[in-house]
Amino acid sequence: MTPERSPLNAAPIGVFDSGVGGLSVWREILRVLPHESTLYLADQAHVPYGGRSAQEVAALTHAAVSWLLEQGAKLIVIACNTASAAALTSLRQRWPDVPIVGMEPAIKPASQATKTGSVAVLATPGTLRAPRFSSLVKRFANGVQVYTLMGAGLVEMVERNELDGPAVEERLQQIMAPVQDIAIDHLVLGCTHFPFLSDAIQKVVGGNVTLVDPAPAVARQARRVLQNRQLQNKNAGPVSWRFVTTGDLPAFQSATERLIGDILASAENRLNFQAWTNNQLQFSGA
Ligand code: DGL
Repeated sequence: MTPERSPLNAAPIGVFDSGVGGLSVWREILRVLPHESTLYLADQAHVPYGGRSAQEVAALTHAAVSWLLEQGAKLIVIACNTASAAALTSLRQRWPDVPIVGMEPAIKPASQATKTGSVAVLATPGTLRAPRFSSLVKRFANGVQVYTLMGAGLVEMVERNELDGPAVEERLQQIMAPVQDIAIDHLVLGCTHFPFLSDAIQKVVGGNVTLVDPAPAVARQARRVLQNRQLQNKNAGPVSWRFVTTGDLPAFQSATERLIGDILASAENRLNFQAWTNNQLQFSGA
């Protein structure tokens, strides 16, 4: 069997998040890898992950990855900063042969680009408290002042399809208050849900602050990994996109339509979009 014909090459890329946030990474993957099938798993039965213990998040993430691999995923993208912070190391130990791409707040590019010497990171408590985060700051801040902001309530807003309006802006004002009088010029979006709030965030922080979203870099990394392992899909013809939730299917579908409906609509005729509920993903303790 030639590598081109191997079933693994045609297998989907598994993309995981606690909810719909990872769709901000999924759409970037699609941009750089349009000929790949994808299987997106949202663990909405347990969203948000941000306030859970690292052990809990790791257990949930292991269960999710295990399920994606059972479904035949050839590459795993952990499209969630919180899950990556809690589980990336142990996932790679458990499945050393599986390519796993994770996320981390984009401290490095923000620190390199800042002119004022001050940047801020907006993320969940789980991401900001993880040893991975302090190590990132230590390695890449390079004298730049890094302010951390916990985005309490924002993940829930995106999950509810609440992307703009006075309540969202008020929440953002409260969250940004600590850096209100500080000349930050870059704001790192350290949670994959937050790019969907970009317009509201930009309105609150003003036009002089650049929002930094690592999703395009993560998608390029996924492409590099597939190329290095010669795992790209070489088959011409339609690919499939599956979207699976552990939570409520109609709510998931309507959120998906609001967030990436333009992409789904443009693909209707040549792609196979499916969605269904998988209720088997359970938290089974640390
Ligand atoms: N999208 C997840 C992240 O990037 C959200 C975490 C949560 O569920 O709180 O961190």
